[in-house]
Amino acid sequence: MALFSVGNLFRDNVIRFVPAASRASSWWSGVEMGPPDAILGVTEAFKRDSNPQKMNLGVGAYRSDEGKPFVLPSVRKAEEIMMAASHDKEYLPITGLADFTKAAAILAFGDNSETVSRNLNITSQGISGTGSLRIGANFLQRYYPGNKQVFLPTPSWGNHTPIFNHAGLQLGAYRYYDKSTCGFDKAGCLEDISKIPEGSIILLHACAHNPTGVDPKPEDWKELSHLIKKKKLYPFFDMAYQGFASGDIDRDAYALRLFLQDGHQLMLAQSFAKNMGLYGERAGAFTIVCETEEEMKRVESQVKITIRPIYSNPPVHGARIAATILNTPDLRKEWLVDVKHMADRIINMREMLVANLKKEGSTLDWSHVTDQIGMFCFTGLKPEQVERITKEFSVYLTKDGRISVAGISSSNNAYLAHAIHQVTK
Ligand SMILES: Cc1ncc(COP(=O)(O)O)c(C=O)c1O
Repeated sequence: MALFSVGNLFRDNVIRFVPAASRASSWWSGVEMGPPDAILGVTEAFKRDSNPQKMNLGVGAYRSDEGKPFVLPSVRKAEEIMMAASHDKEYLPITGLADFTKAAAILAFGDNSETVSRNLNITSQGISGTGSLRIGANFLQRYYPGNKQVFLPTPSWGNHTPIFNHAGLQLGAYRYYDKSTCGFDKAGCLEDISKIPEGSIILLHACAHNPTGVDPKPEDWKELSHLIKKKKLYPFFDMAYQGFASGDIDRDAYALRLFLQDGHQLMLAQSFAKNMGLYGERAGAFTIVCETEEEMKRVESQVKITIRPIYSNPPVHGARIAATILNTPDLRKEWLVDVKHMADRIINMREMLVANLKKEGSTLDWSHVTDQIGMFCFTGLKPEQVERITKEFSVYLTKDGRISVAGISSSNNAYLAHAIHQVTK
């Protein structure tokens, strides 16, 4: 009788049983080396480069004009208030800090939101945007009554696919980005959405689409909302950049609020990583909008059951910072100034880059650089041009030509324009 070990290896959701005799001495000898993370790989290569003019445009974190990580002054003040209050370190409830989740929902849906005043939303704290998306994915996998297939824009944030895949959902895609204009492929997008099977799930970037920086215009959103309703698709909004895109929190929430007004039931994942600079604090929120308060209570009970075996309850510090800011009127005003400061610096860097490209003598159309919004810009650089700009100018970016505008400063903007012109002329 052949002896089988219990060394079952988990690979791409397939369990392989490895006979004890053919197994090497370690339980993990059958684990294959995975590919490196595309963005972290760029940072590693950047670190090894000794060129003093090198630029890292791969990372998705805001930098000051001096190229340094930036802690918002309003965040520092919130932490001082928290220190003085001398909070304990007790566990939070499963769905997190109530002062935070209520404020997060109001921030997303607006001060006079009927959804919030009628108690139709279950909003739970999540582990930043990623964790909030993952709660949603797990919840959909268990309870969604329609077609359990999530349609993503092409391209989308690189982590969307594994988040939904690992939760056991099927994926689909709809056209979004037009390479020829570096803008929104409205016709392709509407055509593909009209072919999605009824009752499927559609993921939408609320603003500052990552990685393209391309957002639909208000009138485009109206058409999208109408079509998505007609096709009975379930919208899942990912809002990782509220306020960070335009500098105005209400403007950046336009699409989300329009969908609510149009009567969509929806899900929402919020991140406070970018708009409060709370990257490592992992402050986020996950919301499901329900039809009635009674339904919301039932859904809430299952959201708790979904979360409990994953991480039990969320971290408190970041949520407390966000709650202190959002619930202290003077501090909230200061935060709005901080957000606008970051958004304006990015918009300014885009304008300066286009002006510098013109100064270099580039006759190409760079209007997409200023038309796009948020932290990222899809430059339109082709893979071979990316390779050249990295090799010859030590400018590091992902192969798809995406740059993090937050990584540009007034002192290296001209250098970047020069490098781009050299590889595109
Ligand atoms: C579109 C999008 N969604 C979600 C996230 C989640 O980020 P975090 O988990 O750091 O909040 C990001 C971060 O880059 C993003 O770009």
